[in-house]
Amino acid sequence: MFVACWSVKGGAGVSVVAAALAHRLAVDEGAALLVDLGGDQPDIVGVAAHHQQGVADWLAAGAGVPADGLQRAEVPLADGLALLTRGNGPLHGGERAEVLLAVLARDRRPVVVDCGMPVGTVSSAAEELTLAVAAAATRSLLVIRPDLSSLRRALAAPVRPSGLVVVREPGRVLDAGDAREVLSVPVAAEVDVDPAVARTVDAGLLLARPPRQLQRGLRHAA
Ligand SMILES: Nc1ncnc2c1ncn2[C@@H]1O[C@H](COP(=O)(O)OP(=O)(O)OP(=O)(O)O)[C@@H](O)[C@H]1O
Ligand SMILES: [Mg+2]
Repeated sequence: MFVACWSVKGGAGVSVVAAALAHRLAVDEGAALLVDLGGDQPDIVGVAAHHQQGVADWLAAGAGVPADGLQRAEVPLADGLALLTRGNGPLHGGERAEVLLAVLARDRRPVVVDCGMPVGTVSSAAEELTLAVAAAATRSLLVIRPDLSSLRRALAAPVRPSGLVVVREPGRVLDAGDAREVLSVPVAAEVDVDPAVARTVDAGLLLARPPRQLQRGLRHAA
């Protein structure tokens, strides 16, 4: 299972969703791999791995470095979950990115990739890579707070998601049903904006004490 989580607007909650989903899959399946293309996952899962070698280093090293170099860069987390960090330097696209996609697609573990926001704020090479991941994944989840600008950006995105993870904020007019209708994409999960989630993330305890509401919301996401 190869799941890509991505967003069309900063701060939607895609990194938290990717981490919580990867952790749930690790618990259910015995192992899972969380791949960070955005760079925030060490903070989200609470590990000091910011300068760890990761995807960017592997892509930059070129064809001389074997594919299993990726596996050696993994950081073990809780419950069989491993983190492949974004690494250092720019994310290169090209042929090496194709190899990365193939390696992730044939991993025996469920793989969840935090693609961040592929369109708009990153370099064109990184945009190419993250869009390629979002397009190649067997499950492509757009994590979205359904306001007008997010829906407009999602309609214009060059990749069509296979499912929506709707992050629900109190007091908003548009909801998951509106997002489903406007985008013609099924809702895979709904997650509340919940102070308990923010507190757990801030304390670095998302994996140690995953908030029940978040776990329940993501039950059928992948
Ligand atoms: N369901 C939630 N309830 C409450 N707070 C949340 C929830 N999801 C995420 N947050 C908080 O919102 C902030 C942004 O979350 P997150 O980093 O997951 O968003 P993102 O879409 O990955 O952002 P970026 O565009 O910067 O990568 C964080 O402080 C996080 O703790
Ligand atoms: Mg993020």
